[in-house]
Amino acid sequence: MTYNIAIDGPAGAGKSTIARRVAGELSFIYVDTGAMYRTIALGLLREGIDAGNGAQVEAALPQIQVSIAYRDGEQQMLLNGENVSGLIRTEEVGNMASRAAALPCVREKLLDLQKELARTHNVVMDGRDIGTNILPEAQLKIYLTASADTRAARRQKELQEKGIPCSFEKIRDDIIKRDDQDMHREIAPLMQAADAVYLDSSDMTIDEVTEKIKSLVNV
Ligand code: DC
Repeated sequence: MTYNIAIDGPAGAGKSTIARRVAGELSFIYVDTGAMYRTIALGLLREGIDAGNGAQVEAALPQIQVSIAYRDGEQQMLLNGENVSGLIRTEEVGNMASRAAALPCVREKLLDLQKELARTHNVVMDGRDIGTNILPEAQLKIYLTASADTRAARRQKELQEKGIPCSFEKIRDDIIKRDDQDMHREIAPLMQAADAVYLDSSDMTIDEVTEKIKSLVNV
């Protein structure tokens, strides 16, 4: 039997950094489900499809093949065989992913891949509905959040480091809008699972959050 850790939370809470760290330290694999939604979003953007048009998205999905590969332990996203890992981190793709992720046909497409990874590997899987929907039996569930201001400040720092100027207000507004979209959709909305541990990382370092989660693991 595999050991599964589910980490859910809003955009910019530090899920991927923390999940990657915890996975590395426990020799588990890190599964970034947001990257899967982003890969579908990129496919839709390339086809010029509007995420608001469910029928159009559904018709396009068979032509959008999503698969993953691991290179040096890092998850790589393949879109129709092309490694698009470096192309899916933009705000445009993130917003499209959030919109597309509200559609049942899009979620359905990724369900088996996510469940199968957890069935066959010890995983730290992060996303929005992992503890509530994908891995309800996960041995450890974390709901990781931080204030909108903290998340926006972290995002601004990341963008500045890449040399991309961006206003704090714009980033904060985008984050709030995306949270709202992810929390209020009909299927698999972002919410804390009843048995998840709530962690607010606003005043915690990456090391502190990592240690806290590791202390809760009982392999
Ligand atoms: O974590 P992220 O920013 O890479 O995720 C992009 C979008 O994908 C997010 O706004 C909502 C969607 N998503 C989802 O609906 N369910 C998941 N398990 C992961 C992501």
